[in-house]
Amino acid sequence: MRILLFTGKGGVGKTTLSAATGAYLSELGKKVLVVSVDPAHSLSDVLEIDIGPEPKKIFKNFYAQEIDVYYSIEKFWGVLKEYLKSLLKWQGMDEIMAEEMSILPGMEEVSSFLWINKHVKEADFEVIIVDSAPTGETLRFLGLPDAISWWITKILPLQRKLMKFIRPAAKLVTDMPLPEEETYDALEDLFHQVYNLYYLLQNPQVSSVRLVINPEKMVIKETEKAFTYLHLFGFPVDAIFINRIVTKENPLYQIQEKYLDRIIKSFEPTPIFLVPQLFEEILGYEKLKKFGKLIYQNKNPEEIFYKDKPFELSESNGFYILKLFLKEVPQEKLEIYQKEEDLIIKIGNYKKHFFLPRSLLNKEVTKASMKDNNYLEIVFK
Ligand SMILES: Nc1ncnc2c1ncn2[C@@H]1O[C@H](COP(=O)(O)OP(=O)(O)O)[C@@H](O)[C@H]1O
Ligand SMILES: [Mg+2]
Repeated sequence: MRILLFTGKGGVGKTTLSAATGAYLSELGKKVLVVSVDPAHSLSDVLEIDIGPEPKKIFKNFYAQEIDVYYSIEKFWGVLKEYLKSLLKWQGMDEIMAEEMSILPGMEEVSSFLWINKHVKEADFEVIIVDSAPTGETLRFLGLPDAISWWITKILPLQRKLMKFIRPAAKLVTDMPLPEEETYDALEDLFHQVYNLYYLLQNPQVSSVRLVINPEKMVIKETEKAFTYLHLFGFPVDAIFINRIVTKENPLYQIQEKYLDRIIKSFEPTPIFLVPQLFEEILGYEKLKKFGKLIYQNKNPEEIFYKDKPFELSESNGFYILKLFLKEVPQEKLEIYQKEEDLIIKIGNYKKHFFLPRSLLNKEVTKASMKDNNYLEIVFK
């Protein structure tokens, strides 16, 4: 069982690469589902076939699904949403407004992803490929578990006990809708499901995040940010796909070349796949299958391409230690510059960018050294 999740900035080729990976894997004999959780659905356009909110068989062992967010919210959050709505209406909000407001932040993203849980539980497919929303939204969703675990451990048990105790009395003095046992059951069930989902997505034996990027200035920083945060949140990125690379004869190549080196260095030692720009439309199962074969060259898309961590961040006594793992560390003078979130590491001709997480932004580099010829240790204070 594998889950391959494609993300990247809007328009870089997430849907095309997801569909191509799926089509190729199905050719290799796997039962595959490509599921689009990006509200801007284009999977049906790419496959040139209508797809519904439930998995649809496209070709032999190849299935596709375009998730309908509102249908999913009702399915997974129905009971809780009804309670919130009744509470808002009780406070004087009108029906339409209450309906809108009862959708909590994160509910939309999580609802779509809960389908993955369902498919895994029912063991319907050997590989699930997720065509996700652009990096910004995907990160918002992936960062949710902390907030959720706080609710579970702190608020939920307390409230529930308290409510059991005060509900009979409270009902006599107020007509405010009180959460019923059923509301708590639904909430608990939902939290379990969400936990399960994150557990799956954070298990490197099962899930791999694949970042899609184009060799263009506008795309690089957002992807570097995603790369940093995905790892901090514990989601394994196993490959970077640099898409739409032109050939040397193309005048655009000179511009792309400038960015290619930066991208490769920024994400190392994560494996990089170089994906050519085609000059035809990549639509329909047959073309996607061929494109998939081209992307992975002789590798199997199901493989786990990278199992280690590209960096580690730890804190001790007010010092933050960042370890950046590199393929090889050149033995020359090390220079480090920090420009807002951008940490630039220069060693002779070698230059690497690293997107600093928020916790390091107001800190300064106090020490940096190369260790064991395979990582850089940078100390912040
Ligand atoms: N390697 C490529 N060669 C040619 N066209 C591509 C390539 N990758 C993507 N495209 C085209 O670029 C457009 C955007 O791709 P899409 O997969 O929809 O991006 P995203 O899902 O990231 O928004 C589509 O028209 C797609 O056919
Ligand atoms: Mg898309």
